[in-house]
Amino acid sequence: MLKRFTVAALLAAALGSAAPAGSAERPITPDDVARGEYLVAVMSCGDCHTPGHFFGKPDMTKYLGGSDVGFAIPGLGYFYGPNLTPDDETGLGTWSTAEIVTAMRTGVRPDGRVLAPAMPWMSFARLTDDDAFAISAYLKSLPPIDNKAPPPAGWNETPPAPYQQVTMPPAR
Ligand code: HEC
Repeated sequence: MLKRFTVAALLAAALGSAAPAGSAERPITPDDVARGEYLVAVMSCGDCHTPGHFFGKPDMTKYLGGSDVGFAIPGLGYFYGPNLTPDDETGLGTWSTAEIVTAMRTGVRPDGRVLAPAMPWMSFARLTDDDAFAISAYLKSLPPIDNKAPPPAGWNETPPAPYQQVTMPPAR
């Protein structure tokens, strides 16, 4: 075990520090995709990222294709779970796996905006490198769905679509 760790550490040192741990791009294997599918199911990503879910009728033809019901966070705004499928226009098609990992674990999108805590990234910060990579690999493997979730709106703006207001439990 110790030996394996040492080899990995040496390898990491030799490869340099181009990318932070866990965000390195590497080829996606079928095992990554299978592990990611499992994690996405048990972590309930589909609840907040699939249309119809909060009306009790998730549209599984648009699984992970973006929610039609947002979360109102007093003082902050209204936030809708975006399309997580690799559609270039409406989803994560142009995001790298590393960018998806960073958004999931730190809340930071490629454009620098920090995701609202309705997206439980504070909890997801504890994902291991391998699991975070597997989730992004699975998302990349999905068929792209052309579906734009409503954009976020500020607290003083008119919300673009229905929303629910809940007090989010703290991250554990
Ligand atoms: C409780 C609801 C909820 C759950 C569960 C959830 N998300 Fe989210 N997620 C959101 C919301 C709401 C946003 C948008 C927040 C914002 O715009 O600030 C979001 C944003 C994102 C984003 C950024 C996308 C973009 O275009 O900006 C990614 C990536 C993401 N979620 C991935 C996931 C993954 C993967 C899972 C499961 C492991 C997951 N989410 C589980 C609610 C959720």
